[in-house]
Amino acid sequence: MNEAILGGLIDGGMDPADIVATVRRAERAAELAARHHGITAIAGEEEPENNRQAAKRADVVILGTKPVGIADLAREISGSLSPQTIVVSVAAGVSLAQLEAALPAGQPVIRTMPNVPAKLGRGVVSVSPGANCSPEQLQLAKDVLKPAGTVVEVPEEQVDALSAISGSGPAYAFYLAEAMAAAGVELGLDPDLSLLLARETVAGAGFMLAEPGADPSALRKSVTSPNGTTERAIATFNERGIPEIIAAGARAAADRAAEITKQLG
Ligand SMILES: NC(=O)c1ccc[n+]([C@@H]2O[C@H](COP(=O)([O-])OP(=O)(O)OC[C@H]3O[C@@H](n4cnc5c(N)ncnc54)[C@H](OP(=O)(O)O)[C@@H]3O)[C@@H](O)[C@H]2O)c1
Repeated sequence: MNEAILGGLIDGGMDPADIVATVRRAERAAELAARHHGITAIAGEEEPENNRQAAKRADVVILGTKPVGIADLAREISGSLSPQTIVVSVAAGVSLAQLEAALPAGQPVIRTMPNVPAKLGRGVVSVSPGANCSPEQLQLAKDVLKPAGTVVEVPEEQVDALSAISGSGPAYAFYLAEAMAAAGVELGLDPDLSLLLARETVAGAGFMLAEPGADPSALRKSVTSPNGTTERAIATFNERGIPEIIAAGARAAADRAAEITKQLG
């Protein structure tokens, strides 16, 4: 996820010389520096002060470890932050209150939920500001995240729901492509051909959905002729309860996010 954001920032025009990435392993730091020419990448196993050093120089710090490590990381860099440094967390399930408790009093904090197409500058990134974040600081964070894709502001109470749609959503689209590829094989297509058809079809439909004002329902109806083949497929999906199944999956994802917040709390 962090590399997806990093790639989006650079492709969107941010000067790589303004970016410091910290990781644990030297091998990973070398990989990042090679792939994103011009950034500084510092590994904790070579430079144990890496996170503190990076935080000292930053206007915006993005915390991107697994949720369980975020509070420790926030505490680790606490002494190195300037009071104006905006701390942004991408961790699923970690609340603003949990972040604020691990940072100096008054530190501006923003909780975000990005998704993986951020890598191509086509992500959705939510921002939920904490109480100490001024409108100017929120705008700066939005500007920093904008190259990663569409930035939406939501109140924190809606982050679990958003996460269940856009955070996990790319995996749902990949799952659809997997299922379509398998269905093609069942119908007798060569597996490689079927995979190509599924990938290109889901990707092509995605491009159409990305057109300004695109309406998925209208697009679907426009390619569904009465009594045609697509209509038969959609009717079967509806009979089998696919919309309810998708809603149940999204509910399960949102519930899991709430569960993680409780476990971390
Ligand atoms: N995956 C998604 O689609 C998605 C969507 C929304 C939000 N998120 C959030 O994004 C975060 C990262 O998820 P991920 O799947 O990308 O995890 P990941 O692949 O494990 O990446 C975590 C990175 O953090 C580095 N790291 C861990 N501890 C560190 C420390 N103490 N100091 C410096 N660097 C440290 C790791 O370095 P090494 O590589 O050297 O170990 C690794 O590069 C999570 O909080 C997740 O909730 C993910």
